[in-house]
Amino acid sequence: MKLRVLPLAFVAVLAWSCKEKTAEEVKPESIKELFAEDFLIGTAVNNGQINGDASQASLIAKEFNVLTAENVMKSSLIHPEEDTYNFEMPDKLFALAEKNGQKVHGHTLVWHSQLSPFIAAIEDSASMAEALKAHIEAVAGRYKGKVYSWDVVNEAVEGDGSLRQSVFLKTMGEGYLPWAFKMAAEVEPDADLYYNDYSMTGKAKRDGVIKMVKKIQESGAKIDGIGMQGHWHMDFPTIQEIEESILAYSALGLKVAITELDIDVLPNPQGVSGAEISQSAELKAELDPYTDGLPADVSAALAKRYADIFALFYKHRDKIDRVTFWGVNDGDSWKNGFPVQGRTNYPLLFDRNNQRKEAYDAIMKVKDK
Ligand code: G3I
Repeated sequence: MKLRVLPLAFVAVLAWSCKEKTAEEVKPESIKELFAEDFLIGTAVNNGQINGDASQASLIAKEFNVLTAENVMKSSLIHPEEDTYNFEMPDKLFALAEKNGQKVHGHTLVWHSQLSPFIAAIEDSASMAEALKAHIEAVAGRYKGKVYSWDVVNEAVEGDGSLRQSVFLKTMGEGYLPWAFKMAAEVEPDADLYYNDYSMTGKAKRDGVIKMVKKIQESGAKIDGIGMQGHWHMDFPTIQEIEESILAYSALGLKVAITELDIDVLPNPQGVSGAEISQSAELKAELDPYTDGLPADVSAALAKRYADIFALFYKHRDKIDRVTFWGVNDGDSWKNGFPVQGRTNYPLLFDRNNQRKEAYDAIMKVKDK
């Protein structure tokens, strides 16, 4: 009798373990898995990470399915002189993404900042068009077929909605905007082409961006998406402002991406931007209060802020194509140096030892509700 029962029990256990698991039973083990059906989850990567820094390599491979170069694909780095291109680090980035099975978002083709000095010095329209054409052909051309999406134009609109008086606008007039998108589409017809900017939730700026994008669309140029950078704060912008903006950009018939997400937990130093806080103990205590670690109440508030934001993204998952964090761990973040240098900020999902923060765990529960 015993001999017959045992094999039957064994078969039952085997059948149970081989049963195809339903979606509820498979617990996502990373943020990219959690949102796999909803939107891509990306991160910006710096030089150490592109070079495969062992302390973060497996984390980057596990958590993210799209990479953006934090700096090395900007024109002053990739194309510092008219006939000089630095493709070594970008090539390594593409190799890393390929190894990890990740996509690459290209950042960025036309931007007034971190601009090659020889382009910044151009004073006439024909020379600017020639230089930008050569730049786009060389950079977008090199990675043709390998880029998921490109920031074609970055930060061309001011807070009041007017066009930024950049060297591109000054030399080529506003026609540079549709022209850049047409040029990018000629060189790389398969990637999604984005306009990317910060403070995209402000009403005046949003209206200006929409006006500009409509003109690009009316010109017949290909534009596929709007990137909202997402350098946000604990109480600003509000969830309502973010939602209104996602809806407004999506109403243009474009994809929306959150392209550079981080949440600044430090006091906003109105009027002391660039302050040398190391010279004043009082100022340092006021502006850099968490040098010994993030207090529990602030950590909880940050977790709630991230959960609220991701609940909104999930609600609008039909409009959002990608959410990219601007860095992997808190120590990597540009926010430790801006707008005040040398502070200790906590804007990301992983701590300085690459451990998941409370904010990470809160995001992982967003779809439970
Ligand atoms: O690599 C050099 C190093 O050799 C040198 O010794 C050091 C001295 O300052 O500078 C290093 O370069 C810095 C670079 O980051 C790499 O760390 C630059 O000074 C610094 O200006 C640069 O900052 C970058 C910033 O863009 C420049 O505008 C940040 O890392 C990067 O996170 C930030 O990213 C931008 C997005 O591209 C566009 N949206 C806003 C976002 C935040 O500013």
